[in-house]
Amino acid sequence: MTTNLPAAGALDIVIFGGAGDLSFRKLLPALYMAHLHKRLAADARIIAIGRQSWTRDEYLAFIDSHSPAFIETSAFSASDWQNFLARLIYISMDVTQGGDYAKLKTLCCQPAVRVFYLATAPSLFTQICAKLSGAGLVDAQARVVLEKPLGTDLASARAINTEVARYFDEQQIYRIDHYLGKETVQNLMVLRFGNAIFEPLWRAPHIKSVQITVAETVGVGKRAGFYDGAGALRDMVQNHLLQLLCIVAMEPPISLDADDVRDEKLKVLRSLQKMDLAAIKRDTVRGQYSAGASEGAAVKGYLEEDNVPADSRTETFVALRARINNARWANVPFFLRTGKRLQQRQSEIIIEFADQPFSIFGTEAKHQPNRLIIRLQPEESIQLEMMVKEPGSGMTLHPVKLGLDLQSSSDKRRAEAYERLLMDVIKGRLTHFMRRDELEAAWLWIEPILAGWQALDDKPRNYSAGSWGPAASSALMAREDLSWFEEA
Ligand code: BG6
Repeated sequence: MTTNLPAAGALDIVIFGGAGDLSFRKLLPALYMAHLHKRLAADARIIAIGRQSWTRDEYLAFIDSHSPAFIETSAFSASDWQNFLARLIYISMDVTQGGDYAKLKTLCCQPAVRVFYLATAPSLFTQICAKLSGAGLVDAQARVVLEKPLGTDLASARAINTEVARYFDEQQIYRIDHYLGKETVQNLMVLRFGNAIFEPLWRAPHIKSVQITVAETVGVGKRAGFYDGAGALRDMVQNHLLQLLCIVAMEPPISLDADDVRDEKLKVLRSLQKMDLAAIKRDTVRGQYSAGASEGAAVKGYLEEDNVPADSRTETFVALRARINNARWANVPFFLRTGKRLQQRQSEIIIEFADQPFSIFGTEAKHQPNRLIIRLQPEESIQLEMMVKEPGSGMTLHPVKLGLDLQSSSDKRRAEAYERLLMDVIKGRLTHFMRRDELEAAWLWIEPILAGWQALDDKPRNYSAGSWGPAASSALMAREDLSWFEEA
């Protein structure tokens, strides 16, 4: 390990929360990959800021023992890793003390692009921005990256946005939602707007329903301190699932410029029908996992997890039916579902097309609507389910999948979401980040649901770890003669 400080160059990436989970699991491995593939300028530095009173060597030793586990083995090379570590600087500081920013100022003395990545508790965002500005570190070249959760409701999100806007222009603010950095999510735009065959069919009445599922097998782990106050609606639906819904539902933007794309996403969020109490009761399902089995091992229930209050009513599962009030999507139900400790790790979007209006194959024929299955993870694929004839005499129909295996369709490396988004920040590309009005529109739709659950004194329904969630989630679909993809 080297103890020489790297000299200042054209880019400084300053990570607040530099020793936190997000840094060593995601950000530093992503920056290592960018370094390995020569996507980081040779003189770019990474300045990690943390509370621990470590020396630089102690910080490097910490990263050296924690981050490699989160780097693909085939991409890890000891010499490249050492060269990467040589870019790192550590500053121990109390981010609430204005005086401590002088240390940072001394280091970032010459004009460079400065990226301030706030991987801290959101309660610190506004003070950090104010103090950076007070120390003269915010100039026209500076960018700030804000990690989620951005607020816990509309008022707190607005307060953060208003404060941050005092020091950074909107064009300098990167509100990150790592789902927007996933390859398949970006591919969805190409699928929709780069293939002429879909556009005429991408609407009511040709589409009968849309399902968006983000299912996880992990439990709350060590994050109960944050998660118990948030729950699945705030943690996943307000951001990741609504962003996926926007990309599925938006009108073609006039260009790929950030504001053109974000204008269209905003319109979708504004078209979401607000739910009143009756709709909340009818169209939402909250669940909480109890003990069960996950991937072959016995696991605890949510209430037995570390730091979860014994009477917690926090939801670890949500399913809901959303309505989009515009001409393209009139009467097309959008079903969103996410949960922890579900049967499989699976994120997918299912577009179910309308039924055949008339079947010449008789009423006995098992006619199934065509479905487009867009799988985000664990593997990335796009499949179109078509009806074909079963070989042999007679005209028996059966579904077959026409598939695009995205992994093997190109030899090109597929960067992880964080690497891709960090490179966008460095290049000043805002398309895959949320604009202020988008974030606030998402809260405006979510907030009445949170309030409605409270007003209805809604207790989460129990589901066993390793299942697909509470039975009421299947019933939500069955009511409209539909079913979740894996239950069909
Ligand atoms: C995060 C949530 O934003 O996304 C976590 O806070 C969740 O609770 C994670 O586990 C899921 O991300 P991914 O990329 O693993 O699907």
